[in-house]
Amino acid sequence: MIAKLEGVYVDRGGVTVLRGVTLEVGEGEAVALIGRNGAGKTTTIRTLMGLNRPWKGKVYFMGRDVTGVPAHERAKMGVGYVPEGRRILPDLTALENLEIAYGGKVPEDTLEWLFQFVPDLRRFLDRKGLYLSGGEQQMLAVARGLVRRPKLLLLDEPLEGLAPKIADSITRTLRQIRDEGFSMLISESGIVKRLEGLATKAYGIDRGEIVYEGTLEGILEDEVARARIWGV
Ligand SMILES: Nc1ncnc2c1ncn2[C@@H]1O[C@H](COP(=O)(O)OP(=O)(O)OP(=O)(O)O)[C@@H](O)[C@H]1O
Ligand SMILES: [Mg+2]
Repeated sequence: MIAKLEGVYVDRGGVTVLRGVTLEVGEGEAVALIGRNGAGKTTTIRTLMGLNRPWKGKVYFMGRDVTGVPAHERAKMGVGYVPEGRRILPDLTALENLEIAYGGKVPEDTLEWLFQFVPDLRRFLDRKGLYLSGGEQQMLAVARGLVRRPKLLLLDEPLEGLAPKIADSITRTLRQIRDEGFSMLISESGIVKRLEGLATKAYGIDRGEIVYEGTLEGILEDEVARARIWGV
């Protein structure tokens, strides 16, 4: 097991938004977290990163209880984060954005390693965030999450707002990263199909509760998941 949430309750703004969430990411798995707006996807991911603290329940990483371990420590331990909305710094170049996540100059061999997954990065490395397209920003956000070679990569709606062709290319990149043995959790609110061929397992979340666990394809046929997530 790479990471696990066990019976996690989290409050945000005085409201309990995760209610007994239990989920697990195994070694080399790409786990999908499917839920509509406000379901608790971001809070789940932030809880794994250490940005939200549960008032009940446990967080495990690499077999260790990290419930009380802050985000920067978890980053050092090997958790990478690709936040919702990408959060690229607009006044810094792509390379400088990577350097901030890396914590210094990124070694040449690490850059070469990143280019395997995100070849386009080479082309816009010296361009400011401000001048990157949505797809380029997402590629940079993935590279930034990967730059310290994390054992677990958390991706919060990485396909959101991207044209289908660009989303497909991000999905392919993520599949390649998975095939290298990296473990990841990927949230998605809309189009389950976009994670086809990538997700090895899926969870459905609604109103802070896990309502489905199984295959990605199975979620579309599961009556409880369908009723809770899509209202059909
Ligand atoms: N900072 C905050 N203060 C108060 N409530 C919050 C805060 N952040 C999130 N919430 C609430 O917590 C619940 C879960 O939010 P969360 O962002 O985890 O959902 P999500 O599944 O990521 O949604 P989205 O698809 O919109 O990104 C929502 O009801 C949201 O309104
Ligand atoms: Mg969210």
